[in-house]
Amino acid sequence: MATKVAALSGLVFRTQGWFRKHQRDLPWRHSYDPYRVWVSEVMLQQTRMEVVLTYYDHFLERFPSIERLAAASADDVTAAWSGLGYYRRARMLREGARAVRDRFEGTLPRDVESLQSIAGIGRYTAGAIASIAFQQRAPIVDGNVARILSRLFAIDEPVGSPALMRSAWIHSERLVGLASSPRDFNQGLMEIGALICKPSRPDCGRCPLRVDCLAFQTNRTAELPAPKPKAKTRDLRVPLYLVLDRRGRVLMRRERGPLMGDLFHLPHGDESLLTGSPLAITSAEMIGAFRHTITNRKVTFELFAAILPRKPRASEYIWIDPATLGDVPHSAYVRKALRLAGIVASSEALPPA
Ligand code: ADE
Repeated sequence: MATKVAALSGLVFRTQGWFRKHQRDLPWRHSYDPYRVWVSEVMLQQTRMEVVLTYYDHFLERFPSIERLAAASADDVTAAWSGLGYYRRARMLREGARAVRDRFEGTLPRDVESLQSIAGIGRYTAGAIASIAFQQRAPIVDGNVARILSRLFAIDEPVGSPALMRSAWIHSERLVGLASSPRDFNQGLMEIGALICKPSRPDCGRCPLRVDCLAFQTNRTAELPAPKPKAKTRDLRVPLYLVLDRRGRVLMRRERGPLMGDLFHLPHGDESLLTGSPLAITSAEMIGAFRHTITNRKVTFELFAAILPRKPRASEYIWIDPATLGDVPHSAYVRKALRLAGIVASSEALPPA
């Protein structure tokens, strides 16, 4: 038993040491301000680091504090999130900020239990904030951590399976309990998972945890963790209509519903993706097509320049000046469509600077 604790302490020590030397320079690592850590963790949950880095500073300039985020309208928050996808995260972040303002006097609590009582903060985010911002010995497991733990301890369960996650949480809790810096340990595991212990072809030659790794010692790094059974993706073709008024404004519509929740969209000619009924048109000329992935749907949008038989209903549709697109919450495909039509320049179609 004592030797096991010594071995695990060695693993924790090596992870912390490696992190201090090799960590990437990321904006929230400059101050470890709890709010900034929170925003980073929510953004990173379903979005790649490179993409998060192009939005992060802009979002924090717009909403520099919990107080300012709590006071903002849901539309303003979603607009600043435009392009990051999974917009529910933006709404929940704002809800969470309001809860912190109303129930915790505007200051994020330090312990996991209180953190988890806040809207939008689950077990992972609570553990991340508690450990990274407040140096609490709180476990965290995300995809990277589950993978690295599955290799370190040869946990023979598929990627993303409840069995792997359960086991990973237990290991994570045990390990962080031995950390002198929970911040450095938890981030170290995530960082090694992201940079070295990659899903395929892990770079074991560079890994500080080689000596601790059961998969490495038994030559099983390529087979652990086992791949998960493939989720079905759905292929869709959706006609989109580009309708301009005399002032060059673009006809858009607000959608409700889980997939396209509360965002502004271009009108469409199909009911499979969006919730409202298709727009009636007189004639349409194809501009081109582009592909876009929304959660598990691979969509080919076919963009048409369309003419309408009558004025669209003002209660449903709205005319948007393309120069002000950044002010309304919209899904990333809208910019792709306007770029394809030559209505916004390529530089404008990039995430907000
Ligand atoms: N992925 C999610 N959170 C992270 C963090 N704090 N550091 C590195 N990668 C991460």
